[in-house]
Amino acid sequence: MSDNIPTVYTQIGDLGFKRLAAAFYRRIGQDAILNEVYPKQDRAGAERRLQMFLVQYFGGPGQYSEERGHPRLRLRHQPFQIGQAERDSWVAAMLASMDEVGIPEPAYTTMRDYFQNASTFLLNAVTL
Ligand code: HEM
Repeated sequence: MSDNIPTVYTQIGDLGFKRLAAAFYRRIGQDAILNEVYPKQDRAGAERRLQMFLVQYFGGPGQYSEERGHPRLRLRHQPFQIGQAERDSWVAAMLASMDEVGIPEPAYTTMRDYFQNASTFLLNAVTL
């Protein structure tokens, strides 16, 4: 990243990611499709892993990789069936969470583009 373009992390900080992950996991519990896909046993831990990953990805401290190693997102999502409906529900829940938390521009557009593209890349149960 260029030195004079502030990272998303610089703009929204740890608190922004913490509030976003919390809002997103609240929505998982309220979404019929996502609630079915996500394991129920350790949602607090999963919320923390998502938060750490996003902090690291968007320019903050690399605690995620210290604890979890290389992200390997496609591999880590392989156990879960991610078709178009799951992908679309995920993106809708994340965008609604960003609105709820009030993520400001330009962070909002950077994050939205990433979430839309990365979630498409994670499709692993596509019916042709
Ligand atoms: C931009 C898109 C996405 C990103 C950045 C993302 C990121 C992550 C991360 C960082 C983890 C934790 C990995 C670890 O164990 O260290 C995770 C777990 C998971 N993700 Fe995603 N994910 C995305 C999209 C999706 C989609 C579309 C689905 C399906 C609806 C999904 C379902 C899951 C599930 C079920 C877990 C396991 C949660 C648990 O540990 O209990 N993800 N994701």
